Amino acid sequence: MKLSVPGRAGAVAVLALAGLLGTSAPAAVAQQDAALAAPDIPVANVKQHLADLQSIANANGGNRAHGRTGYKASIDFVKAKLDAAGYTTTVQQFTSSGSTGYNLIADWPGGDPNQVLMSGAHLDSVTSGPGINDNGSGSAAVLETALAVSRAGLQPTKHLRFGWWGAEELGLVGSKYYVSQLSSSERSKFSGYMNFDMIGSPNPGYFVYDDDPTIEQTFKSYFAGLGVPTEIETEGDGRSDHASFKNVGIPVGGLFTGASRVKSSAQVQKWGGTATSFDRCYHSSCDTTSNINDTALDRNSDAIAHAVWTLSAGTTQPPGGTVFENTADVSIPDYGSAVTSTVNVTGVAG
Ligand code: TRP
Ligand code: CA
Ligand code: ZN
Repeated sequence: MKLSVPGRAGAVAVLALAGLLGTSAPAAVAQQDAALAAPDIPVANVKQHLADLQSIANANGGNRAHGRTGYKASIDFVKAKLDAAGYTTTVQQFTSSGSTGYNLIADWPGGDPNQVLMSGAHLDSVTSGPGINDNGSGSAAVLETALAVSRAGLQPTKHLRFGWWGAEELGLVGSKYYVSQLSSSERSKFSGYMNFDMIGSPNPGYFVYDDDPTIEQTFKSYFAGLGVPTEIETEGDGRSDHASFKNVGIPVGGLFTGASRVKSSAQVQKWGGTATSFDRCYHSSCDTTSNINDTALDRNSDAIAHAVWTLSAGTTQPPGGTVFENTADVSIPDYGSAVTSTVNVTGVAG
């Protein structure tokens, strides 16, 4: 199933009507807009998750790698936060290289089960370090977005699912296993999968995956609104968990701030930083909480929330009551219901 960008036509139509009537925008519209807008994700919360993942690595031999105690501790940490926030969580086990691996899946109750919007990140590190940029960053930002969904009491049209993958560093093992366990009918219910692997690189670039056009455009528009130029991700197409989904025909997208590749002088011009690796600590022991660019982590976390909110709104079903075919059916004295009905009806166009 293709994703569609939800139209803002409804709100625009109401504003136009308000204009004709010589009134200002009704409070109901402002309220509805506030309800639809993604929150600003507090980067301090994301950083706290990174500090916690660093502590987990410190207490478990310096890493959070597949088959090591720091990995399972990372799973338990993320799961506890999601359980407390009202998610339905599932730990999926698999075996790789003779060790048990774990994926964590969290479902936000509600939404259309035939339109699943999933966001995910790999939670494992390499054995050589704590894996804070790779990929505590994506894991923490997806976690904080899920917690923001809970805080907002979001009731999206689509069903929201979040995933944390095991053994990515051994060859996308966890995400391949997850996808292999989906029936073809379950696969067909995904409207998209968004992947976040390395989004706080210390010398960051702003890369958007060049895959599903709707997901890609949603991210590009967000960064354009910030005035931050983006480039297409080219450092390793297929080198992260989105490939597992793409391989079975699920529309994918994602964000990336760069790994070992060197930032070009043209990229230094547009993004600042230095003409060195985007992440000089990639797969090293120095991939600690010091190996994070806070601005990149913040922008990308906010972009994730924006995409989750925007893409899950999808097309809307009128929430019951009278549904007007068009605004001509709405009488002016009944202005209050005209507001609601106009939003509902034109919202279907999205
Ligand atoms: N997946 C790689 C890792 O975890 C990092 C990486 C390299 C990457 N190129 C990428 C991630 C492109 C996303 C997109 O080590
Ligand atoms: Ca933010
Ligand atoms: Zn990674």
